Amino acid sequence: MAANIIDGKAFAATVREKVAGHVARLKEEHGITPGLAVVLVGEDPASEVYVRSKGKQTVEAGMNSFEHKMDADTSEEDLLAVVEKLNNDPSVHGILVQLPLPGHLNEDLIINSIAPEKDVDGFHISNVGLLGTGQKSMVPCTPLGCLMMLRDYHGSLSGMDAVVIGRSNIVGKPMAQLLLGDSCTVTIAHSRTKDLPDVVRRADIVVAAVGRPEMVPGDWIKEGATVIDVGINRIERDGKNKLVGDVDFASAAERAGAITPVPGGVGPMTIACLLANTVTACCRANGLAEPEGLTA
Ligand code: GUN
Repeated sequence: MAANIIDGKAFAATVREKVAGHVARLKEEHGITPGLAVVLVGEDPASEVYVRSKGKQTVEAGMNSFEHKMDADTSEEDLLAVVEKLNNDPSVHGILVQLPLPGHLNEDLIINSIAPEKDVDGFHISNVGLLGTGQKSMVPCTPLGCLMMLRDYHGSLSGMDAVVIGRSNIVGKPMAQLLLGDSCTVTIAHSRTKDLPDVVRRADIVVAAVGRPEMVPGDWIKEGATVIDVGINRIERDGKNKLVGDVDFASAAERAGAITPVPGGVGPMTIACLLANTVTACCRANGLAEPEGLTA
């Protein structure tokens, strides 16, 4: 069976359109422009690319983009002061501190200094707790994007067996919470899982988020399963640089019912969901109805 390809690039474009529609209404009907502030410390080239892309897409959606670039040797005190200023700025509805931070800065301390209602990454300990207890929270962007694609493809996920491979705070754990919230039976697998092939073979939904190129071969995939590949791994093959996922796409696509490609699958959904979270945060801050279809 040849799998359906879940086109994350096209889906992300529809999310961005919805966001832009909500932004236009917020401006017209309420005179409010949502604002997203991104803080970048240091000069990590990959982070600079991400931050530029975030800024561009924020503006394209009609929102205000605020960028704060700080030197690599910025002190914790100075960074905390910037976050505090953004927390108190009513034109800023979402705050994102780009990770990783330089080694001398305590990431947990910085992330937990962001006002939870402006934490559009969903990394603040309050948001983690709210998500874990099924309460309204800000939801991490990548898992939110995966959930949107799964809901779009399946409608209801109720009763499905889901395996999340990877237990990171950014993807694996919140992904598992979201799937549980949609009434899946969820297994979180990781490097110490005893029989990973067997665990994956039982799953109707496989979310791979480990960061190891093509570690999931096609013969682990149950016939007809839906495969969401979060991995973005740069490898060299036949003398060329290539992006591959955590799943071996060619062999998995022969067995899966549906699969996300790399690139063009989950990747584009992350920034689209960041924009969605910013609109959600703006609506909540102003006591307005939340945009439908853009939250968990
Ligand atoms: N670095 C890479 N991805 C992300 C992300 O989604 N959020 C933050 N804050 N930093 C990142």
